Amino acid sequence: MGFSIIVHGGAGKIEAASAPSRIAGCRAAAETGYAVLERNGSALDAVQAAVVALENNPLFNAGTGSTLNREGKVENDAAIMDGATLRAGAVAAVSGVRNPVKLARKIMEAGPHILLAGEGAHGFAREHDVELCDPAELVVAAQRAHWEKEHGTVGAAALDAHGHLAAATSTGGVFDKLPGRVGDTPLLGCGTYANEYAAVSCTGLGEDIMRVTLARHAAYLVEQGAEASSAAREAIAYCSGKTRGEAGLILVDRDGGLGFARNSVNMPVCAMADDARVVLEI
Ligand code: GLY
Repeated sequence: MGFSIIVHGGAGKIEAASAPSRIAGCRAAAETGYAVLERNGSALDAVQAAVVALENNPLFNAGTGSTLNREGKVENDAAIMDGATLRAGAVAAVSGVRNPVKLARKIMEAGPHILLAGEGAHGFAREHDVELCDPAELVVAAQRAHWEKEHGTVGAAALDAHGHLAAATSTGGVFDKLPGRVGDTPLLGCGTYANEYAAVSCTGLGEDIMRVTLARHAAYLVEQGAEASSAAREAIAYCSGKTRGEAGLILVDRDGGLGFARNSVNMPVCAMADDARVVLEI
């Protein structure tokens, strides 16, 4: 059985000068996830490893490098979903957690809940030995001027050698958001979704992605027989037709088919498959 992974670094407009480092960041994250798949690891571990790599890269709006809310603070959203079992974990509006996707995974493993928010999510992290940090450590001063126009959510979707799919997404949300604002990322079927047919991670304006349940819409198109790349394009066209929001998504299907589409100017993407396919896109 083949395996593949695709990652994104967020929809938006990227200045030419920063394009190479953003695509390199996506490639490094895809390689991290690919290495897990190569060792016969699970799609779940692969997407988590890829998203952790992006969260730790200050160029991206997730983990370290997250955008600021109206009070100048970082509040993160993240989700992870296992397509084989439909198990999932998610966090919303949480502060002071170094890698929100790891917290999402812990919530998934612990059960019975899927989504924890704010103080409750922070308390859960403390109790389950998820690494906490001073929220100020997630703010990268040098990036401050660029946050609004360039930063994007990060995500990964993968198929492992056992035929299982998984998706994960992580974000600092949108610049200048109200405290407590939650976007599409931690909402299953909106910013993140995986089942036995497809794994999907979305990026863009959360409010509009929620309106069209974009990730589930794309997965449903695959279930109905669409090929991965057509499903990605059709889902984005649907979102553009119904809303005005900037959006992009990545997708892997159960045959290892890879799809991505955006209506934004840019969305850095790196995809890698075991047949030596490597796709890089800005
Ligand atoms: N898509 C990220 C957000 O709107 O929060």
